[in-house]
Amino acid sequence: MTEINLLDRYPTSNRPIAEREASVTRERDVAKRFGREYFDGERTQGYGGYRYDGRWVPIAERFRDFYALTGAQRVLDVGCAKGFFMHDLRGVVPELNVYGLDISRYALESAMDDVRGHCVRGSADLLPFADDVFDLVISINTIHNLDLERCKQALREISRVSRKHAYVQVDSWLTDQQRENFERWQLTALTYFDPDGWQRLFDEVGYVGDYYWTITE
Ligand SMILES: C[S@@+](CC[C@H](N)C(=O)[O-])C[C@H]1O[C@@H](n2cnc3c(N)ncnc32)[C@H](O)[C@@H]1O
Repeated sequence: MTEINLLDRYPTSNRPIAEREASVTRERDVAKRFGREYFDGERTQGYGGYRYDGRWVPIAERFRDFYALTGAQRVLDVGCAKGFFMHDLRGVVPELNVYGLDISRYALESAMDDVRGHCVRGSADLLPFADDVFDLVISINTIHNLDLERCKQALREISRVSRKHAYVQVDSWLTDQQRENFERWQLTALTYFDPDGWQRLFDEVGYVGDYYWTITE
């Protein structure tokens, strides 16, 4: 169980916090449907255009090196959205068996051609896979979108289907200012804690994988 930032090469984004905050209550209901508006609508409703731009390539390299991934292994991305990370993992580890799961019909219908056949629709707290079938289960910025009980169940499910490694990244903060930014900015998170709170949750459910925080600067 290691606290490690494997997304340290992810580009920092410009967040118009005040602009979103003005409409945040109205936009939360829309965002939580994880439909077109969330991915490809206005920035106040979500990503404001979730398009492939290669930003996951250096992160895929980081995962490849940290977990010594090879083409013989099986990896699951829980909350895979349109499959950008899946695509780039396959790009840096040819023949890696990468699978994805997401709740969003819109995202999966828009998934990249080379990974669409390996994506399933479902929820992180009920993974449609047998025990111990993946060498690595990754879930980035997804399980905090479930309420507390379902978030706990998602961590149990991630542990159940992994025979080796797991990595989760969740919303958190290190300072009061970051917490304030997060609360003004976030649209979809239902379960969030400071790092100590997350670590207590990991202990409670027996999650022993790796983890890191998404901080709203
Ligand atoms: C912030 S996006 C992250 C997408 C991707 N992992 C990334 O980092 O770019 C959150 C994703 O979680 C998905 N999601 C929300 N609730 C979910 C659930 N219960 N089970 C699986 N995926 C879910 C959404 O559809 C969306 O694709």
